[in-house]
Amino acid sequence: MLHETRTGAPWRVGVIFSSTGITAVIEETQLRGTLTAIDEINEAGGVCGRPIEPVIYDPGSEPAAYGRLAKRLMVEDGVTTMFGCYTSSSRKAVIPVVERLNGLLWYPTLYEGFEFSSNVIYTGAAPNQNSLELCAYLIERYGSRFYFIGSNYVYPRESNRIMRELLRHNGGEVVGERYVSLRADRADFLPIMKEVRELQPDVIFSTVVGDGTAHLYQGYHDAGFDPKVMPIASLTTTEAEIQSMGADVGEGHVTAAPYFESLSGDGNASFLRRYKRRYGADSPTNMCLEAAYFQVHIFARALEESNSLDTEILRPAVLSAEYEAPQGRVAVNPRYGHTDLWTRIGRANRQGQFDLVYQSPSIVQADPYLIGYGRTVAGL
Ligand code: ACM
Repeated sequence: MLHETRTGAPWRVGVIFSSTGITAVIEETQLRGTLTAIDEINEAGGVCGRPIEPVIYDPGSEPAAYGRLAKRLMVEDGVTTMFGCYTSSSRKAVIPVVERLNGLLWYPTLYEGFEFSSNVIYTGAAPNQNSLELCAYLIERYGSRFYFIGSNYVYPRESNRIMRELLRHNGGEVVGERYVSLRADRADFLPIMKEVRELQPDVIFSTVVGDGTAHLYQGYHDAGFDPKVMPIASLTTTEAEIQSMGADVGEGHVTAAPYFESLSGDGNASFLRRYKRRYGADSPTNMCLEAAYFQVHIFARALEESNSLDTEILRPAVLSAEYEAPQGRVAVNPRYGHTDLWTRIGRANRQGQFDLVYQSPSIVQADPYLIGYGRTVAGL
C-alpha cells in the first residue's frame, strides 16, 4: 500500500544528485533547482493538500552509486518517483532499477538520444534540439573542419558520433578526435592543445564534462588561441562551468542550450528573483538547473491530477503536460516521454553570461532517434 492513501502524509520523492565528486559543480545546481521547486509547491499548499518530502542522497559522482541509491529509494524508502542524474552513465545505472521495480526517473540533463524507457521522463535536450542547429551555425559562422574532444564515457562518444554524421551531412569533416579521463587535469590537455595548433581546425567541439571542463578552457586560454576564429563549442558548458573556470577564460566560446540565464521575459525574471533570493545574487542559473526546476512543477501538476505516485497512474498524466518554464512554454511529448524544448545558441561574454546568437522560432519537438533532419529557420 503506497503512502498516498494516508490522508495528509507527505508525498515522498527521491532526489539523487551529486554534491561531491567530479560533476558536483553542475549537479549541485540541479539539486538546488529541484529543492526550489519543491519549496514553491509546498509554500503554495502542496499537492492535493499534502507536502512533497524529498529523500536526498549524494552519489558522489560515481555512476554505480546512483543505481544503488535508486534501489535503496525504492526498496527501503518506499519511493516510486525520483529526480536525478547528470551523466548518461548514471542514468544508465538507474534505468534497470526503475524498469525492474516500475519507478519513474525524471532526468533533467541533455543527452545523446537514441533511448526510450517508459520509466523515464527526459526533460533535457535530445540531439535534434541542440546538436543539429549548433552544427549548421558553426559551419556557417566559423568553418567546417571540427576537432572533437570529449570525456571518455558514453555521452561524449555517442554525441560525437551524431555530430560527425551531421557534419558529413553538411559537407564538413572531423580532423581529430580525442578522449580524456573524467578525472582529467590541466596537464592532460597540453598534448591536445599541441595537436590543435598543428591541425588548425575551425571549431573545437567539446563534450568534456565535470571538472575537466575548466581545465580544457584554461588550457586553450594559456595556448593563446582566439575564440573569434576557432571557438570551443559545447553542449555541456553552462554558466556554472563558466563561473568555475572564470568569465575571462570562457569569453567568446559557444554553447547550445534550451535555456540561458540571460534570457529576457517575465517568466525567467521572476524565476531568477526567487532563485537568487534563496542562493545569492552571484549564483548563476543554467539549463540543467532550469530543467531540474520545471520538471518538479510538471510532476506536481500531474500528481494533482492522478492523486497517486503509482507510476502506472502518474505517467499518463505526465505525458502531454505543458508548462510555462523559465525558457518559455515546454511540453512533454507523449510519443517518447521526452520534452519539446527551445533550441538556442549563445556566445559567452565577459560577465559569464551568454549572448543569444540563435533561437528557434518555436519549441522544437523532441526527436531522440533523429528521424527527421529538418532544420528550423535561423532567427536573430
Ligand atoms: C550527459 O552525460 N548526458 C551530459
